[in-house]
Amino acid sequence: MDTDGVQTVSSIEQRRVERDVSNIFTHLRDSRNIAGEGVRLLKEKHLSYLTHGIRHLSSSFDCLDASRPWLCYWIVHSMTLLGRDVTGELSRDVVDFLKRCQSPCGGFGGGPGQLPHLAPTYAAVLALCAIGTEEAYSAIDRPGLQRFLYLCHQNDGSFIMHQDGEVDIRGAYCALVAAMLTNTLTTDLFLATAGWVSSCQTYEGGFSAVPGTEAHGGYTFCGFAAAVLLKATKLVDMRSLMRWICRKQMKLEGGFQGRTNKLVDGCYSFWQGGVFPLIYHTLKERGDTSLDCELWMFNQEALQEYILYCCQSPHGGLIDKPGKMRDFYHTCYCLSGLSVAQHCYGTSNTVTISLDPETVLKPTHPVYNIRMDKVKDAHGYFSELPVPQLVHDSTVS
Ligand code: FPP
Ligand code: ZN
Repeated sequence: MDTDGVQTVSSIEQRRVERDVSNIFTHLRDSRNIAGEGVRLLKEKHLSYLTHGIRHLSSSFDCLDASRPWLCYWIVHSMTLLGRDVTGELSRDVVDFLKRCQSPCGGFGGGPGQLPHLAPTYAAVLALCAIGTEEAYSAIDRPGLQRFLYLCHQNDGSFIMHQDGEVDIRGAYCALVAAMLTNTLTTDLFLATAGWVSSCQTYEGGFSAVPGTEAHGGYTFCGFAAAVLLKATKLVDMRSLMRWICRKQMKLEGGFQGRTNKLVDGCYSFWQGGVFPLIYHTLKERGDTSLDCELWMFNQEALQEYILYCCQSPHGGLIDKPGKMRDFYHTCYCLSGLSVAQHCYGTSNTVTISLDPETVLKPTHPVYNIRMDKVKDAHGYFSELPVPQLVHDSTVS
């Protein structure tokens, strides 16, 4: 790392992370390679962490009381990426729980009886589609969901996260995903949204939460995926997006940082990594001739090394960086990023650094982040149903 001779809190932390990661690479990676053992995904350990977690959470999870549909999504999606579908009694229990989180006015809250909010609504819809049974699909009150999405839509195209709540780019993406997956999209629900989303692209090239703030991987994924769903990527400055995002992969660690001058974190394997397939397909659709191979524009092997060597807890579950505790959020986004790094979606290419076929995950859909076949099944089911036609009245919008 070049500090220009000035030590800061950031440069000290960066050096510490580089030292920890280098130690892992020299001791673990290099010795395993010499022994011809290579690296493995601890699939059974991760599955047992997830299957235990979906039914038993300790009191330390109190702080996630308003994120319970998220816990369902992180766990169910992780299990399906590992090849374990959620079926039988477990699937019925998760569906019943999510139904209790659904508001009588439409949309899902963070737990039973909580106000509907776009983030848990997104998570609940994804969890139900990742389960993918008739019972799960029909749990969604589609007219209510559409009413809630209208309530969040603002005249400038942005979305508030909940009634009287804050605006940010996550809202536009969450609303689009919920509407597109459930076939509740109408022509005026996303009026002016493409323009508002593109106004969040910053001078650096990534997207920020609202216009004029700092570019960040989480918001960049939401912004660019929203532009893809709205078929509005022509409003995005692709060159500056590519310049910014390619530089977010860390030279030594191989994982991604979320923003300039910050530390690597396993969750950005998806938030940043997931943008590359979207960029690839946007350029391909435009007939861009600079795409001469069917790979993403980042080092897919290096990201896999970071996730597999530095982010796996030996007891199951995945982490942000060495020294951190496992959690379901990082387990979900490390696995999702690993899947992106392994599969070149829309092509038949698989890239793996492991000799063990069990280390290859199922492909995830880079816009929705549930398994590819689950997106197809949900589209198949909901496209048979009519789009609800909301009767506008002043108490709704
Ligand atoms: C910074 O945290 C984190 C943010 C500014 C927000 C991140 C946003 C997402 C992950 C997107 C969420 C997406 C949906 C669909 C709801 P930090 O300062 O702790 O981390 P950093 O140092 O890595 O930036
Ligand atoms: Zn993280």
